[in-house]
Formats: sequence, structure tokens, C-alpha cells
Amino acid sequence: MRTNITKKFFKQGSEFLKVKFPILCGAMAWVSTPELVAAVANSNGFGCLAAANTPADILEKQVNKTRELTDKPFGINLITISPSYHEQLYLSQWMKLPYVIFAGSIPKKNEVKIIKESGAKVICFASTKSIADQMIRYGADALILEGMEAGGHVGRVTLSVLLQQVLFETRDVPIFVAGGIVSPKMCAHLLLMGAAGVQMGTRFAISEESCIHQDMKKLYIRSNSRDAISVPQYDARLPVVPVRTLRNKGFDDFSDLQQKLIEQLNSGKISRFKAQIQMEKYWNGALKNAVQKGDIETGSMMAGQSVGMIKDIPKVSTIMEDLITGIESELLLIKKLL
Ligand SMILES: Cc1cc2nc3c(=O)[nH]c(=O)nc-3n(C[C@H](O)[C@H](O)[C@H](O)COP(=O)(O)O)c2cc1C
Repeated sequence: MRTNITKKFFKQGSEFLKVKFPILCGAMAWVSTPELVAAVANSNGFGCLAAANTPADILEKQVNKTRELTDKPFGINLITISPSYHEQLYLSQWMKLPYVIFAGSIPKKNEVKIIKESGAKVICFASTKSIADQMIRYGADALILEGMEAGGHVGRVTLSVLLQQVLFETRDVPIFVAGGIVSPKMCAHLLLMGAAGVQMGTRFAISEESCIHQDMKKLYIRSNSRDAISVPQYDARLPVVPVRTLRNKGFDDFSDLQQKLIEQLNSGKISRFKAQIQMEKYWNGALKNAVQKGDIETGSMMAGQSVGMIKDIPKVSTIMEDLITGIESELLLIKKLL
């Protein structure tokens, strides 16, 4: 950091996360390996391990591996609806992980308490104003405000609305913002608006250290923002958790499956329960297949609308350096204009 202006705008987020730059690499299932998390931490940003559905014994190894690769702080992201969630929660507690990020759905008040009592800071996602208020009441130490532009599982409200509803109205806890963010100019303006820092996913997924298959990286950098769409739901009887992903054959086949199941439901050929199971089974292993096998046809190509702004595959340290330099230039430019 070369000037005091960045220090000033980074202060709240940096002090909270105990890192030089309050730039978070959001947890990404199958993608946020110890290597990627450590690369972000060693570049003075904040990385998050994705617990996803990982059994606790494997997760423990991943935490230890990350600790071997970096002595800097990092977070663990727990998906409250994962089958391994409870064992992961207790693992986070006894391994004394300093930052626990709850994702997936709303954590129970008692779960937030357990983690806080272990000495960790609790960060919760907020995809609506009411969830933000509830998480603060539950004792969250910070929020991640994520707009629907983001990659992966998403809410239904845009970041521009959440900024006005939550960021501008909340002074209680540091607020990090996410969804569709790539450019340093955008980061600078979000800091000026009061964000404690920014979280990016897709940008770091398309980096040299990211483990995702080369074919997936290549498709990402050829894609436009409009290609990253949220999986639609066609019938309220068959709810779909919205996921933002690149449209491919797998995406279209899922739409066909929904139409087929709706017809079968209407004609009484299938129960709602059985239809829902078929829907849920459909995406099993699809992200892993894309990330590890390069199945870009039928795999799940989770990506934010940010994907359209990413045209290179740099090292994490380069991404961080370019961000910090760009944020600083923009803040200095604004200072001059005022
Ligand atoms: C491939 C992929 C997997 C993701 N997995 C998770 C996850 O396991 N837990 C989570 O909280 N968020 C997950 N996310 C969301 C990211 O952490 C981050 O908030 C999001 O990507 C921000 O939007 P952006 O991609 O436009 O930067 C995932 C995103 C992507 C692209």
C-alpha cells in the first residue's frame, strides 16, 4: 500500500479480517482448495475454505494443509444444509478456526453462539434485508451482502438494491459485498459507499492456482455476462434452489426434466415427493465433474455475471496486485475531483 487513502478505506475490513487487503476470495465448493486459499492469504487477501459436503475427517486434513501453506488467517465456509454440516460445525469449534462463514440457509441462533464461544468471528450471508437484520440479532460479527449477480447458489435481490437497503442503513457490523464484482474501480466505489471490503468468486476461480479443469477455464474466458444465468423454476410444486451457472446442455436438459415431471405430476403418474427426488438427484456430482473432469457439456458451470469481464488467467498475486493498484488510483482520482 503506497498511500494513506487505501489504508483509510481498508481500515475497517483489514482490522476485522486481520489481513492487509480486505479482498475476500469467496468459498467455492471443489474450487477453494488449500492451495487457492493459501495463495490468496499469502497475497494479503482473505481466502475461505469451502466445507461443502466434505466429511469432517477430510476437512480436517484440508485445514491442516492450508495451515501448512500459510501462516495468515483464513475462513471456513459451512453450508448449513450439507449432510456433513453438524460434524463440520464441531470441527470448526475444536480446531479453533478464527472465522466461520455460514452459508446455504439461515444458521440457528445456537449455532452462531457455539462458534462465537469458541472465540471465532462469525460472518453470515445476507441475500435480503430481513435476513441481514436477523443475522445481526443472532450475533453475526460481520455480513456478506451478496447480490443475485453472483455465481453459485444465489438469492433473488440485486446487489444495487441490497446496497441501498442494507449497506446504507446498517452501521452495526462490517459489511462485505459480493456478486458480479471484478474491476478495481467498482471495488473503490463500494468502499466509498461504506463496504468494509469485497468478495469475489469467479475472478479467483479463473486464476492460475485454481484447480478447475483447463477446458472449464477456457470456456469461462470465452463467456459473456448474459451466459451466466440462474436455473429457472417452472412450477411451484417443484421448487428449484436458484444457482447461477453458464448455460450448457446440462442446464437445458434440467429444464426438459422439469417439464417432463410437471406433465407426469399433472397426469398423476408420479408423486410430488418422487419428482422432487429426481430433481435433486439431477445435479449430484455435476460441479465436481466440471471442475475435475472438464465436463463443460453436462457439468455444472457455476459462474457469476462477472464472468463476462474476465478474459485472462493470471496468478492470484497478480489479481491482488492489479486490484490494489487500481483501487488506489481510483480513490486518488476521486479525491482530486472533490
Ligand atoms: C463455482 C462456484 C462455487 C461456489 N461455491 C460456494 C460455496 O460452497 N459456498 C458459498 O458460500 N458460496 C459459494 N459460491 C459463491 C462465491 O463464494 C462468491 O460469493 C460468488 O462467486 C461471488 O460472485 P462472483 O462470482 O460474481 O464474484 C460459489 C461460486 C462459484 C462460482
